[in-house]
Amino acid sequence: MHNPFRPTFGASPRVWAGREAVLDEFGRALDNGPGDPHRSIIVSGSRGIGKTVLLTELEDIAHKRGWIVLRASGREGMADTLTNSTIPEAVHDVNPQPERKVTGVSVAGIGSIRTDINEAAPQPRLTTRLRELLGAIETGVLVTIDEVQDADPDDLSRIAVAYQDLVRDDAEIALAMAGLTRGVNRLLDLPGATFLRRARHYELGPLTLDDATRTLTLTAAEAGTQFTPEAADAAARFTQGYPYLVQLIGYLAWEQATGVIDAGAVESVRREAIERLGTQVHQPSLRDVPPRQRQYLDAMARLGGQDVTGADLADTLGRPVTSLSDTRAKLIERDLITPSGWGAVSFAQPYLGEYITSHQGPRRVS
Ligand SMILES: Nc1ncnc2c1ncn2[C@@H]1O[C@H](COP(=O)(O)OP(=O)(O)OP(=O)(O)O)[C@@H](O)[C@H]1O
Ligand SMILES: [Mg+2]
Repeated sequence: MHNPFRPTFGASPRVWAGREAVLDEFGRALDNGPGDPHRSIIVSGSRGIGKTVLLTELEDIAHKRGWIVLRASGREGMADTLTNSTIPEAVHDVNPQPERKVTGVSVAGIGSIRTDINEAAPQPRLTTRLRELLGAIETGVLVTIDEVQDADPDDLSRIAVAYQDLVRDDAEIALAMAGLTRGVNRLLDLPGATFLRRARHYELGPLTLDDATRTLTLTAAEAGTQFTPEAADAAARFTQGYPYLVQLIGYLAWEQATGVIDAGAVESVRREAIERLGTQVHQPSLRDVPPRQRQYLDAMARLGGQDVTGADLADTLGRPVTSLSDTRAKLIERDLITPSGWGAVSFAQPYLGEYITSHQGPRRVS
């Protein structure tokens, strides 16, 4: 049997966990018809929390209703790509015979036929293109935008204008966006973002312990292997409800186990799981952190990483509390730490403290 766990970003899990509220509300919004406010949604959360695969689930909900799904990414010129390639391709797919007329037959050659496609002279707008697509189908169109935190606000507002135009006309259209928490919040704060603020906003948190346990045991069971109850419990606790870790610990424990997956198998892959999480998540997010911020993080790690107070940090760093607020704000902006309780901070990602402690830079000696 192949390993059924999928610790790969963007790869949908075999057994889905949690997020029912989002899926149910979105399905209902599509069924309720045009005008349902939950037809435009925005999902935010930290790295690896499951934003991309949630968008894929939403796409499935639309597909099941016969809808056409158009994918866009905040990392490219979304409005242009949709207007000039994604939508025309979709129109072509639902209506594979565009008006094509033969303009000349080459007799001498090997019988090649030259054709011209009737193209409107001015570049059509996004709204026009979407109307064209909606006119060619009897269902609806869902546009999904991943990595929306990287979107150019002007680009996003072109999509907003098109969406609102179509909503006014009672068109069967829906929009689902996903991005990192801070970036999404930054977008929501922009002056022209009324449209985004009206979208249904979900912040993805960790999975419950029960959901994590269930996903681990069911994924393994469907592929013919059992977790012992202790092993499932230990593995689920280890994940802290973090979906990427659910897939990762499951994957590694599966590789390790002979027969059933027992607590020993889970324990023996713990370190490697943290190591891989570090390479996949922590390392890239720490790459450009300047020295002062890094020292703050190092001090946090030494102080346990959970609910660390400003006073303790100031003590450890040998600096006045007031001088730390700028660094603190920058690290929050980077999604590396989160405020927790009165003046305290915690690491925003599981095992970030462990990673920092075990990957200190070279020590300077005189
Ligand atoms: N609801 C879920 N149930 C089970 N596994 C999940 C769930 N959500 C995410 N995963 C798993 O977690 C991992 C990360 O998911 P995903 O790529 O969607 O994260 P992301 O939030 O988009 O991360 P990034 O911020 O890096 O883009 C994948 O291996 C995926 O299979
Ligand atoms: Mg993603």
